[in-house]
Amino acid sequence: MSNDPHPVDAAASTEPAPMTGSVPRPKSTGLAKGDPVPGVPKVDPIMVIDNVTRRFGGLTAVDVEHLEIPRNAITALIGPNGAGKTTLFNLLCGFDKPNTGAWSYDGQNLAGIPAFKVARMGQVRTFQLTKALSLLTVLENMKLGAGGQKGERFWQSFLPATWRGQESANEEKARGLLARFKLDAKEKDFAASLSGGQRKLLEMARALMSDPNLVMLDEPMAGVNPALTQSLLDHILDLKDLGVTVLFVEHDMHMVRHIADWVVVMAEGRVVAEGPPATVMEDKAVIDAYLGSHQDVDLGVVTGRVSGELDTSAIALLEEIEADEAAAIADAEEEKK
Ligand SMILES: Nc1ncnc2c1ncn2[C@@H]1O[C@H](COP(=O)(O)OP(=O)(O)OP(=O)(O)O)[C@@H](O)[C@H]1O
Ligand SMILES: [Mg+2]
Repeated sequence: MSNDPHPVDAAASTEPAPMTGSVPRPKSTGLAKGDPVPGVPKVDPIMVIDNVTRRFGGLTAVDVEHLEIPRNAITALIGPNGAGKTTLFNLLCGFDKPNTGAWSYDGQNLAGIPAFKVARMGQVRTFQLTKALSLLTVLENMKLGAGGQKGERFWQSFLPATWRGQESANEEKARGLLARFKLDAKEKDFAASLSGGQRKLLEMARALMSDPNLVMLDEPMAGVNPALTQSLLDHILDLKDLGVTVLFVEHDMHMVRHIADWVVVMAEGRVVAEGPPATVMEDKAVIDAYLGSHQDVDLGVVTGRVSGELDTSAIALLEEIEADEAAAIADAEEEKK
């Protein structure tokens, strides 16, 4: 694992890296120094959180004693509704202020640093409810994600020659990312016209415009059509291949099981368990207490990422996905006429 904050430059180039498709990728292991208990130190943490609390009136929404996020790995933050996951995300990104506590990113103290500066340091996030600007086109939304734009400075804005080159490089990069996320055909459409799933993809693509080192995704799968599920999973795995660290909140346990290298379980504001998915998710107490019992359909089998027998509920889900796809194709053909 690397200490280099810019381990791989592929995300920074205007040429998007080729999609690695559904090639199964090994999980990162050996991330922690010791047994997987809450607060266990990591071998190479990108973020270290200490005694962070956030209270709303009498309610303590977040109360995290110690948590380290491993670098260049995919960490899932799970837990029941109201566990404090989004509130913790907001604190870590500078969107909200804690009552107590400190945390650092890449060894730099982040407490009290506003969100736009946090983003400039290479840490970006997406939202549980998508924040695409509806009345801008898809391409314009993408261009907003680029950092250090010269044309935004007052005097330089009058001198197009000073920013035109950068503008076209940004546009090229945006188009490359849109192609990777299969949104290129929509670049001139208003973001308002996209489906919920496409907006999630746009948010993720836009986050990549700033060449981040840490991407935080709040429920990337929520509201996404099952037909887009596989590509979303692949995009997240691709990020790791590019040397990016991913921290994501998700209720879809199949996704967590298949892509996460490390899982942190929150309940009532606290970290109650953490460890590799196989350990944490097999912990019956965690499953019963926090995840409910709807774990019968294995998404990895359905999407072909992992081999295995399709049980009846998996077959039903697969049929549903195929029907959705057929309907989407029929719609597209109808529109063409
Ligand atoms: N701005 C706020 N004012 C008051 N209470 C809040 C505020 N934001 C969050 N809360 C409360 O804090 C607790 C944690 O909420 P949070 O949204 O962080 O949970 P979550 O784990 O993200 O849940 P979900 O899985 O439903 O998204 C909840 O009880 C919520 O009602
Ligand atoms: Mg939430």
